[in-house]
Amino acid sequence: MTVADRRFIFSAFMTAETVDLAELQSAVDSRRTFAIISHPDAGKTTLTEKVLLYGGAIHEAGTVKARRSERSATSDWMEMEQQRGISITSTVLQFDYRDHQINLLDTPGHQDFGEDTYRTLTAADNAVMLEDAAKGLEPQTRKLFEVCRMRDLPIFTFINKMDRPSREPLELLDEIEQELGLATYPITWPIGSGDRFKGVFDRRDRTVHLFERQAHGSKAANETTFDLDDPELKRRIDDDALFAQLCEELEILEELGSELDMEAIHSGQMTPVFFGSAMSNFGVQLFLDAFLEYSLKPIARNSTRDQISPASPDFTGFVFKLQANMDPKHRDRVAFVRVCSGRFEKDMTVKHARTGKTIRLSRPQKLFAQGRESIETAYAGDVIGLNNPGMFAIGDTIYCGEKLEFDGIPCFSPEMFSYMRNVNPSKFKQFRKGVAELREEGAVQIMYSVDEAKRDPILAAVGQLQFEVVQFRLLNEYGVETRLEPLGFSVARWVVGGWDALEKAGRLFNTATVKDSWDRPVLLFKNEWNVGQVQGDCPDLQLSKIAPVLSGMQPTEIR
Ligand code: G4P
Repeated sequence: MTVADRRFIFSAFMTAETVDLAELQSAVDSRRTFAIISHPDAGKTTLTEKVLLYGGAIHEAGTVKARRSERSATSDWMEMEQQRGISITSTVLQFDYRDHQINLLDTPGHQDFGEDTYRTLTAADNAVMLEDAAKGLEPQTRKLFEVCRMRDLPIFTFINKMDRPSREPLELLDEIEQELGLATYPITWPIGSGDRFKGVFDRRDRTVHLFERQAHGSKAANETTFDLDDPELKRRIDDDALFAQLCEELEILEELGSELDMEAIHSGQMTPVFFGSAMSNFGVQLFLDAFLEYSLKPIARNSTRDQISPASPDFTGFVFKLQANMDPKHRDRVAFVRVCSGRFEKDMTVKHARTGKTIRLSRPQKLFAQGRESIETAYAGDVIGLNNPGMFAIGDTIYCGEKLEFDGIPCFSPEMFSYMRNVNPSKFKQFRKGVAELREEGAVQIMYSVDEAKRDPILAAVGQLQFEVVQFRLLNEYGVETRLEPLGFSVARWVVGGWDALEKAGRLFNTATVKDSWDRPVLLFKNEWNVGQVQGDCPDLQLSKIAPVLSGMQPTEIR
């Protein structure tokens, strides 16, 4: 009998009592899991890199960035897909910072923006909203914010690029409050911007941190701090008008601003705000320290067995992302599992809730840095990568102990729609199988026309890359050639209340009705303006950008 076999037998008999509860609680208390929500070019890669630098996970900034430019320089994405070693490493970045273990989940942006970006947020306990100080809120940030709001995630705002000409800070806060309905509490406050950027005032200890310009700060910055009423500070700022403006703005904040309310922060109703310049490493450490203090540790999750506490002894987790063909040498698939409770151990056996099968979790991967390190243990808040020989689907629960299923991962509003035709009818079986499997993996949503004569599936995706992946994989893995026929819509809304509600609404204009994979009605529109029109015409019709997937819901067969 090999050591692995013995471990297998041991773990099969391992019960909750063998887990040290104090150890479990301390592992949970020290963990923080977050994702960054931002629009391309706001500085996510730069901030990620600087956060890793402070966390000691990299020693010199430039590594992540270099990897990214390597990636976007590859014009052919297929090639990129085959070199997925790059992307897998950034699915989750794990590092220690001040006795805490931080998990930073990557939210793909740019050309890989897709449903995965939204799904990642279902695995996070906190979000960092990154804004470019010159631009404020931008479209992709707004969309990702809506997903955070749905889950009441605590949101930390980092306003970046203060070293460049920026919008007025009060105006930026007002925009967040008005547009997102999110109260703001600035923890730091900027002194000037662009060429006149002098630093930030930390409202917690009333000190000023002076800014030192660094073209591309590759090392942690040495910040010089002064008390606000230190006469030396005024001399160093050397700009009376700016200093007077700072004092005035601080007064406004004290008199008119909200009070710091931890409960509101934890329920996603108030965002602590920070100003800085990721490129110059400025304000990053202040942000990280406050983040540790105010963020949520792994939270309890809803399941068919009520809420599951992260420190409860039985291991549980759910799959939030699947990635295929990442390693050209082994055409494997990896399922990314967010651990929700208990202790994960390499080679342990768990139950797969959807199929009822018992599976052994061997070869788990830790997902960071150059290669794939194997992982021995993991706790709530961590993410593990499991080899998936076709067993896992998005939203699947794995568990030890009493049976449970976590709430499924919802469908997020797609923005591109296209009929997909099978070019060669003799490949009908492979086509059906391929489409069904790719749907289960969450590579794309499948919808159908309500007109029975139009039998081809409609692919519905958030990003163009999703279409390309589906066509590429159908050809390479199933030998099926397909042709896309785009539909001229860009917005989808689920009808709350289903077909009955839709029928009650009567005739609708400037929209088309289709059904999703669970036979639920979805309205497609050319643009947001048309959505407004329909809602104006039928105020009782409730439309939703997100549709839940409840445990046990079986999708319809692919035609
Ligand atoms: P992203 O991942 O959100 O898309 O953004 P990324 O970090 O790649 O940053 C986008 C651009 O903004 C980069 O410039 C980056 O250097 C710059 N940037 C990020 N943070 C700051 C900041 O605090 N201040 C200033 N002034 N610029 C910042 P680039 O020209 O595209 O790349 P590079 O040649 O500078 O590397």
